[in-house]
Amino acid sequence: MMDWTDRHCRYLHRILSARTLLYTEMVTSPALVRGGALHLLKFDPSEHPVALQLGGSDPVELARAATLGAEAGYDEINLNCGCPSDRVQSGTFGAVLMKHPELVADCVAAMRAAVDVEVTVKCRIGVDEQEPREVLPDFLERIAAAGCERVTIHARKAWLQGLSPKENRDIPPLDYELVHEMKAAFPQLHLSINGGVQSLDEAEAHLARGLDGVMIGRSAYHTPWDVLAEADARIYGSERETVSPDDAVAAMVPYIERHIATGGRLHQVTRHMLGLFAGRPGARKWRQVLSEKASRDGAGTEVLDEALGRMREAA
Ligand SMILES: Cc1cc2nc3c(=O)[nH]c(=O)nc-3n(C[C@H](O)[C@H](O)[C@H](O)COP(=O)(O)O)c2cc1C
Repeated sequence: MMDWTDRHCRYLHRILSARTLLYTEMVTSPALVRGGALHLLKFDPSEHPVALQLGGSDPVELARAATLGAEAGYDEINLNCGCPSDRVQSGTFGAVLMKHPELVADCVAAMRAAVDVEVTVKCRIGVDEQEPREVLPDFLERIAAAGCERVTIHARKAWLQGLSPKENRDIPPLDYELVHEMKAAFPQLHLSINGGVQSLDEAEAHLARGLDGVMIGRSAYHTPWDVLAEADARIYGSERETVSPDDAVAAMVPYIERHIATGGRLHQVTRHMLGLFAGRPGARKWRQVLSEKASRDGAGTEVLDEALGRMREAA
């Protein structure tokens, strides 16, 4: 998620769950290939398994960007066919590609030919006036024929004009049934559902009905402990002990100290930690102290200690 799932956020999420697949923010192929913005590819080795999401629509350029991603060590290269923002439409990236399935297939084929790691697609069920039950099967068939074996479907349409990106994540109605129908129609495809899933209970219900994966965006960001901390045990059957929010804070401290020592600022990391205690007594104090103090000049990890202390007092 752009501006949210940066490397600091992913580092935190990986502390909470060793097994879930994490995705980068979308990185555009022109930024990498023409702009040489290779710093966008940096990540911490602990983030594995981690997928690089690319935006673009030029097969040659995407193949080059995928190669750069694979060389940087990403475990998967994902093509964004779901983002509806204007900026992205102008470059023919994202959700507008739902109207050009043959081009998406060319992109997938070119990326597949360029890298050994898996090439996957994230898409919508359709855009604008498209009839999802007509266009989605055709879209999936074409990208599968081009070598894409894993797809995440955001189970709502995007409206390319008239709705903001934020509205496009809430207003078009969710059609989970269609995604389940696609799994029945394409049993060989690994299909993940996305959109509005807020808990592991809901994720488990989709998996029990036969889907292969569930992608959780906003809830994983806003309530990371609730969504991620028990995912290893409940979804992957792992026996690893559940990490408490306090353990997660303790594990973040050395990372934050390294970040600050190399010129970074506290709030760049702690802004992703605001929801760590969501729903627990005193959580508001935790958020408040971090929000107020972490962006001050010279702020260090003592702000975390203060936030923990004030949270406990308020509980
Ligand atoms: C701030 C923000 C940024 C997002 N950026 C991306 C992105 O870069 N790539 C992408 O595929 N989806 C992006 N999304 C969409 C989410 O991945 C997801 O499809 C959507 O929020 C619906 O899932 P959810 O209800 O679990 O959040 C973004 C969502 C938000 C809230």
